Amino acid sequence: MEEPRVLKFLRDCDDRFVSGEEMAEALSISRAAVWKDIENLRRLGYAVAAIPNRGYRLVAKPDCLYPWEVQADLATSFVGRELFYFRETDSTNNQAKKLLKTATPAEGAAVVAETQLAGKGRLGRQWFSPAGAGIWTSIILHPALPVADMAKLTIMAAVAVRRAVLEATGLELVIKWPNDLLWAGRKVCGILAELGGEVDRLAFLVVGIGLNVNQVAEDFPEELRETAGSLRLAAGRSLDRVVLLQALFRQVEACYLQVLKEGFAGILEDCRRYSATLGQRLTVREGARTLTGVARGIGDDGGLQLELTTGELVTVYSGDTTLSV
Ligand code: BTN
Repeated sequence: MEEPRVLKFLRDCDDRFVSGEEMAEALSISRAAVWKDIENLRRLGYAVAAIPNRGYRLVAKPDCLYPWEVQADLATSFVGRELFYFRETDSTNNQAKKLLKTATPAEGAAVVAETQLAGKGRLGRQWFSPAGAGIWTSIILHPALPVADMAKLTIMAAVAVRRAVLEATGLELVIKWPNDLLWAGRKVCGILAELGGEVDRLAFLVVGIGLNVNQVAEDFPEELRETAGSLRLAAGRSLDRVVLLQALFRQVEACYLQVLKEGFAGILEDCRRYSATLGQRLTVREGARTLTGVARGIGDDGGLQLELTTGELVTVYSGDTTLSV
């Protein structure tokens, strides 16, 4: 999806009215083509003022994650530089995996959708992804790392989201092991990482991030109302999703480069420091087994060290945690 040519032109004119004639000349198109392009721009949600004898002026942009909006001033060198935008899709993770099969997406390529019709959560759950309310994105990476680092890579994504939200909004989210982000005990972000490859080397990693941004309480379905939150509920104001997505791409890139250069120590340090889990009594569902105990630590391998009621210390590497009250 390319930036409409008249948009770029109107943007460059800032607050000035530009006549159809001037635009037609500058863009080497007919005046009828300018008019058609302006109509198209309005269909995309841009407000364009048109005053007889003065011309056109860009008044407002829509709340959409169009690639040209996200990529303008995007301070990354590879994450989000290739962007696949959908107004709606089944799941951005599915689209990313499809791309990996049918094309050669660049390192850091990302899929973004305004809404997902079949958004996927962990453990086969659904992920509620209403239109225009959140950030539903999947980032494609090819880390030259063993599959065993998978747990740590999903923790890396959680740390990146935390840093991005802090940078863009000033809000301090906490990390519920392994990779949920909470505010005031409510889940604001979930991460679903999917991988392909051999034991000794990951062929690809799709990092799917679902960040609730502008929902208000009533927007959540009944069954989520007690547990889900959004950045808007946390901040008390609605937030710019473009700014957040730019920060997210920047922090994913920075964390990823940090891991490739220095390993996972710094990431794990953040995960421990901003943990909602450590010291808490909790239940972990890991496959068929359910364990209850107190979270004593997060190891250098990313595993959660749980002290069971028997006193035994066990480490779990994935699963669903429920904090006990
Ligand atoms: C969870 O259960 O906590 C993980 C939720 C992950 C949701 C995101 S939204 C973007 C990406 N596409 C999907 O279908 N799921 C992930």
